[in-house]
Amino acid sequence: MRGIRAFVGSAALWALLAARVAAAVEPVSMAIAIGAASILTGYLSYSGAFCRFSECCGEERTLNASALKLNLEAKLFGQHLATEVILKALTGFKNNKNPKKALTLSMHGWAGTGKNFVSQIVAENLHPKGLKSNFVHLFVSTLHFPHEQKTKLYQDQLQKWIRGNVSACGSSVFIFDEMDKLHPGIIDAIKPFLDYYEQVDGISYRKAVFIFLSNAGGDLITQTALDFWRAGRKREEIQLKDLESVLSVGVFNNKHSGLWHSGLIDKNLIDYFIPFLPLEYKHVKMCVRAEMRARGHAVNEDIVTRVADEMTFFPKDEKIYSDKGCKTVQSRLDFY
Ligand SMILES: Nc1ncnc2c1ncn2[C@@H]1O[C@H](COP(=O)(O)OP(=O)(O)OP(=O)(O)O)[C@@H](O)[C@H]1O
Ligand SMILES: *[C@@H]1O[C@H](CO)[C@@H](O)[C@H](O)[C@H]1NC(C)=O
Ligand SMILES: *[C@@H]1O[C@H](CO)[C@@H](O)[C@H](O)[C@H]1NC(C)=O
Ligand SMILES: [Mg+2]
Repeated sequence: MRGIRAFVGSAALWALLAARVAAAVEPVSMAIAIGAASILTGYLSYSGAFCRFSECCGEERTLNASALKLNLEAKLFGQHLATEVILKALTGFKNNKNPKKALTLSMHGWAGTGKNFVSQIVAENLHPKGLKSNFVHLFVSTLHFPHEQKTKLYQDQLQKWIRGNVSACGSSVFIFDEMDKLHPGIIDAIKPFLDYYEQVDGISYRKAVFIFLSNAGGDLITQTALDFWRAGRKREEIQLKDLESVLSVGVFNNKHSGLWHSGLIDKNLIDYFIPFLPLEYKHVKMCVRAEMRARGHAVNEDIVTRVADEMTFFPKDEKIYSDKGCKTVQSRLDFY
């Protein structure tokens, strides 16, 4: 948008200059030129037209909270806590014209419970092109920061990237996947961007969104879910307060969480710890049905049951939770 404004500005200037030359001869053409210049400016900076050709950052774009809600409720299974917290966090953040800091969400949970899936939904609701957007950046620890001895280099790189990305678009979204495989300390490089500063070197990071994904704390979440189950209480009775503090403390003290002794937790820079509960047999079935529909097939309950029965469940005795959540459901379905 900044580019087109500059372009429109100079187009208008040229028109005026041309008019000034002409005005020496004829005052009427001066008026016409001014009119033309302002119409041009008005037309081209009408963002709706422009953003159809090239992706816009849309820093002032509002979040359609009801669309996000419908999306999460229809697509995300068995995660009442994550749904609730994500909705609350994003709605509050996007409704605030002047957020005091960037929004930071840390999502935790067992494998295949929907962390990447949700971050994709969130990304799509913030930038229509989702993960393909120029303003959504995915960092995968094992891919982008594999070597422990290069911590310093990675920290510099990360700061440079984020600085560049946020100066291009204030409402950029950064997703850090596999945080548990990130070497300790690397993530602290982004601490200044998450803090309550109005600006850092002339750039404001306050409209950016940072999302961390990890399996760290998954064991604590599972234990809580299991306690509820054994006490005969409903899964939906689990509340955020049963888990949030357990998670932040657990992750802080876990050497392999990517947030071990991290200043981000120490200084309360992570706004929400979001627990993803382990998925049950019935949720796996829901995933199979969703996948069938996505492939344009009619739902065949026979196959749904067969695919779900192929998955393995834990703990050994009760066999309540899927070992891999809904992961591998898609590839298993290929056999039918
Ligand atoms: N709660 C859920 N509701 C609906 N679909 C789900 C859910 N969890 C997982 N899925 C399906 O399973 C696939 C794999 O899940 P996803 O990649 O989000 O897992 P993850 O939590 O990131 O796991 P990991 O910790 O192993 O990376 C998703 O693409 C989605 O299709
Ligand atoms: C928000 O989303 C809902 C549901 O998808 C849709 O009906 C509504 O028109 C959207 N509102 C705006 C302002 O885009
Ligand atoms: C933005 O981030 C990406 C990584 O996702 C990086 O390749 C790119 O160079 C960054 N852009 C700027 C302007 O720094
Ligand atoms: Mg994942």
